[in-house]
Amino acid sequence: MNELAQVLDLFDTGIPPLGVRLAETTRNRCELHVGDARQLLSQMPDGHFDCIVTSPPYWGLRDYGVTGQIGAETTVDEYIADLVSLFREARRTLSDDGTLWLNIGDSYTSGGRTWRGADAKNKGRAMEYRAPTPVGLKPKDLIGVPWKLAFALQADGWYLRTDIIWNKPNCQPESVKDRPTRSHEYLFFFSKSEKYYYDWQAVMEPASDPKQKTKNRRTVWNITTEPYPGSHFAVYPRALVRLCVAAGSRENGRILDPFFGSGTTGVVCNELGRYCVGIELNTEYADLARERLLRGR
Ligand SMILES: C[S@@+](CC[C@H](N)C(=O)[O-])C[C@H]1O[C@@H](n2cnc3c(N)ncnc32)[C@H](O)[C@@H]1O
Repeated sequence: MNELAQVLDLFDTGIPPLGVRLAETTRNRCELHVGDARQLLSQMPDGHFDCIVTSPPYWGLRDYGVTGQIGAETTVDEYIADLVSLFREARRTLSDDGTLWLNIGDSYTSGGRTWRGADAKNKGRAMEYRAPTPVGLKPKDLIGVPWKLAFALQADGWYLRTDIIWNKPNCQPESVKDRPTRSHEYLFFFSKSEKYYYDWQAVMEPASDPKQKTKNRRTVWNITTEPYPGSHFAVYPRALVRLCVAAGSRENGRILDPFFGSGTTGVVCNELGRYCVGIELNTEYADLARERLLRGR
């Protein structure tokens, strides 16, 4: 029996599984697709998912070492264009009241350097090249990638509902002495339509006023990073993903992560009782995700 024939139809949609459903444990509700998200998304049905939670590769920061990877484009405009077309296809697979939670970090221009050597502490930081300084920017400029992407997605039809600052109290130290150390990344919250599902009560936060126990969640989230042993790249913390999944979907809802990496979104979906489809280009990371999902953390 081949691998696909063994999988369970956990989504119970009548649609044959497109990827490998990890049927080894009954607690697992994830389906893993290995390949380029641009191609795989085009095979997925319209309006299937309730919510997308994802973190695309950042531009020019890391080399994941696989042909077709996003993030290794020569110009930031090509990178943005690649992501806009990918998320357009992802929007088609989203229900009309669906939402997108997109985590993205920024980067600086290279200052004339053309490559970055291996970083002994973080193998994934090594690049075979450093992208050239974008036209109109100077050495040492912050590029503003998150907002470029947010505005491009907005122009493509997404409703940009809010930016969220993910503040990292335990951020990586930087050796810079001419600016503050960067300790935040962005999380953008988009919807497909004007009206959409958002469970504000599921993500309330403690109130400072003693008369009130909780209040509507604010837009700065203080969440420590969560290093994942064995991975060579940016894993986002489960605590961040939990808030997106809880606000963006009901129990048994369907979540998509087109940049699955080590499968953090899937781990959280299993925890919170949601179904999840993850797409990952790099087979090594897909193996890592599979192993993580089976272990449950
Ligand atoms: C920032 S990482 C995601 C990390 C993930 N959120 C986690 O917690 O492990 C981005 C991932 O996108 C994958 N990727 C890059 N280009 C891709 C593409 N065209 N299709 C699917 N995955 C891609 C990379 O291999 C990498 O694992």
